[in-house]
Amino acid sequence: RERVNVARLLAQQTAADGVNVHGWVQSLRRQKKVAFAAISDGSTLDTLQAVLKPEVSAQLSTGTAVRLTGSWQASKGSKQSHELQVSHVEALGANDAEHNPLQPKYQTPEFLRTIPHLRPRIPANAILLRLRSQVIASLTQFFSQQGFVQTHTPIITSSDCEGAGEVFTISSNMAKDSVESQKPEEKASVEHFFRTPKYLTVSAQLHLEALAQAVDRVWTLSPTFRAERSDTPRHLSEFYMLEAELCFTKELDDVMSVVESMLSAVAADLLRSRTGTELLRTREAHHAEQETTTESATATDLKQRWTGLAEGGWPRITYANAIEMLLDAVSQSKVKFTYKPSYSAGLQAEHERYIAATIGEGKRPVFVTDYPRVQKAFYMAPTDPSDDESTADKTVACFDLLVPELCELAGGSIREHRSQELLKAMDAKGVAGEHLDWYQDLREYGSVPHGGFGLGFDRLLCYLSGVTNVRDVVAFPRWYGRCEC
Ligand code: 4AD
Ligand code: MG
Repeated sequence: RERVNVARLLAQQTAADGVNVHGWVQSLRRQKKVAFAAISDGSTLDTLQAVLKPEVSAQLSTGTAVRLTGSWQASKGSKQSHELQVSHVEALGANDAEHNPLQPKYQTPEFLRTIPHLRPRIPANAILLRLRSQVIASLTQFFSQQGFVQTHTPIITSSDCEGAGEVFTISSNMAKDSVESQKPEEKASVEHFFRTPKYLTVSAQLHLEALAQAVDRVWTLSPTFRAERSDTPRHLSEFYMLEAELCFTKELDDVMSVVESMLSAVAADLLRSRTGTELLRTREAHHAEQETTTESATATDLKQRWTGLAEGGWPRITYANAIEMLLDAVSQSKVKFTYKPSYSAGLQAEHERYIAATIGEGKRPVFVTDYPRVQKAFYMAPTDPSDDESTADKTVACFDLLVPELCELAGGSIREHRSQELLKAMDAKGVAGEHLDWYQDLREYGSVPHGGFGLGFDRLLCYLSGVTNVRDVVAFPRWYGRCEC
């Protein structure tokens, strides 16, 4: 008999015999003549009610995996329209409910992070797996419609794209004696499997630029790694970055438009999906459970957020104007910051939050554009192509996309496509060297004005779900000092 999932069965409003469902027992209630089990399989937040004989329920406990056969009948209870009258139940594996570290009661996020292998079974966490999957499907569809080619870029690289020195260096376990038989000249390189130091990638951008020059528009969603000692709710050591590059453009607006229409498409899909509806329900439940946690978004906030994304038309402000706005706010005592805003010091997280909360009214992301060159990576093109890059306060054609709480959701720029100017910029930032010769080549052969962006995919999931810590939207999070199973 064909098996049906819980979501599909719950949607069925007519009686049926010979129904076959697989799932896990969420809870059990035993009475004298009858037992009730709530069954879920992660396809929906809702559970189905299974009605069993008390004696057969003895083999079950909270968490047991089961196969149930029975008939789908109208229910006498008020909580569900239909229920499964079980004729046959089979426990499919061991289940020690008593010693399970995951208990069906409130457990703190900090504790749950110590059992990442069990955590996704909590319905509010399971739905985050579905959210991730659905957002990837929306993005795939969006990019395909826009003529972008999905690509894969390497994880092991020779360069530090951002030049921030936050790379993990690859080391091999090759024992010294394992190379005794090799050619003598190879012994010298034994420390480095690839002869010279290699790193886990911090961004796919440079490789993506090479691929864009073959097919015009490319995108990727790939793992990136940063050895940042940042112990914050926004930073992971391993995270997914969504990146895209597009050729034949000199306009930063073109790049920002892609980001805007992309997130707008994702939000529109979410607004009409069951995952979206169920996410809003988990938010409501979350707030009912912990009335005191006011900092996290309510269901109403979330819906407003998705609508703001779907509508597009997000505010744009230059970096210089943003600094001015912050200074005005301080002088009018509208806000107090720990760090005084200044053009040269750069935006602190508290400033970014304020910008998102005021200019975006907390409902829309805000593009801040044209940052000073000194604050940004070597590959960015100047706002004004006739600028001399040695002038410290000159700006580059770039943007950061800011949202409340998470601060920077995405960043992008027009790339320097002129060979000499790129060389100068690399020299100025001290990143020039053989390992980037290939990148320089891109400016020699078929060079073309182009631009692109990178978006923190896990941060996006936080923004969409209202989960306040990026460690809780990633199944197996890694951050400074922590790499559990
Ligand atoms: O701003 P970043 O460092 O930009 C780049 O790496 C560019 N090369 C991307 C490009 O243009 N193709 O990183 C991009 C985004 C940030 O805006 C942020 O959302 C996210 O990646 N991000 C992190 N997310 C989680 N944990 C971290 N440690 C992150 N570091 C950056
Ligand atoms: Mg950035």
